[in-house]
This record gives sequence, C-alpha cells and structure tokens, in this order.
Amino acid sequence: MRQTRIIVGILVLVIAGGGFWIAMKGGHFGPIGGSGKSANQVQIGGPFELTDHLGNPVTDSSYQGRYTLVFFGFTFCPDVCPTTLSTISAALDMLGDDVKRVRPLFITVDPERDTPEYLREYLVHFHPGIVGLTGTPEQIKSVAKAYGVYYAKSLQEGDDPEDYLVDHTSLTFFMDEDGEYAAHFSHSTQAKAMADKMKKILSEDS
Ligand code: NI
Repeated sequence: MRQTRIIVGILVLVIAGGGFWIAMKGGHFGPIGGSGKSANQVQIGGPFELTDHLGNPVTDSSYQGRYTLVFFGFTFCPDVCPTTLSTISAALDMLGDDVKRVRPLFITVDPERDTPEYLREYLVHFHPGIVGLTGTPEQIKSVAKAYGVYYAKSLQEGDDPEDYLVDHTSLTFFMDEDGEYAAHFSHSTQAKAMADKMKKILSEDS
C-alpha cells in the first residue's frame, strides 16, 4: 500500500512537474533579445547556504564557474534516489574530460537523519564526484523552494517516528556556470540521454 502511494505520488509530481517545466521553459527561453525578466517568470535555483558531506559550510558561489547537476533526495529512499544516483553516476562516466566542468550535488530533503557522516557513507556507492549537501531544516526548505522542489515526510499514525519515508520531487536540474537553469531530467531519463544532453550544452558553451 505504502509503495503504491509513493509511486502514485511520484507520478503526480512528474506530471505536475512536466506542466510546470513547459510553462517555465517558455519564460526562460522567451523572445530572443528580450531583456529584463517579466514579473511572473519562474526562477529556478538561487542562493543557498548548506553543509557538504565533509562538514564544510558551502554556498551557491562555492560552485560558480562550474555546471551543477542538482538532485534532491534522502539516503533512506528505497528506490528512486539510488536509481537516480546510479543514472547520474553512469552519465558522469560518459562525459569524459567534460566531467571536470560539472559538479553533481545531492541535496538531502531529510536533514534530520542525513548528517554529513551519513551522506559520506552513502555516497561511496556512487560517482566519487558527487557532493552530498545537508543543512538545517530551514536551509533545506529554502533551497528546495528555490528549485521548486516539493518534499514531505510520509508518516502514518502508529508508525515509528524515526522510521519514515519522504515523498519528494525527483527531477534532476542541470544548471550552468552562473547558476542559471540549463536543462532538467526526469527520474526515468536514461544515463545516455542525460550524458548526451549535458555534452551538447557543454559543447555549445566552450
Ligand atoms: Ni527518493
């Protein structure tokens, strides 16, 4: 039952996310030569203050000058997060030398359990370039909001309060060197497609 609810939840998020993204793309890649942003244009990304998996304080400017591949999730996630992180890892392996231009960021939506130590242990299973980020609940709330990412604890009455899942948006965002949105991927995107898209964007901008 719980599994079904999660899958349905994810589907709803993907569908809702799709509509949102189509709307957003229209704004972002609006009229050529247009300057100034319209008031209702959706902005993706923005400043953040977090702590990396080594325990160092970081901000969005720590990654300026590099592309970032941003994924939100949590280490206790049974399926979507490990699958997406495996896809991201495989895609990074396909980038060749360009991998140096990309900093993959895994931002937890479960800061209460995902300490830097936990993130560090978890991330050994994936590409060594992936940086785990955690923070205070307020810092996570703020960065999730900046990316339009939804997350919520899924806890039934009578459940062990320490043993819960977190429903969350499962999109991966590809941001350029200035922290501006470049592309996004759904959790069903294959590694090859993800790598091809990143290569294309990187080659247009080298
Ligand atoms: Ni997950």
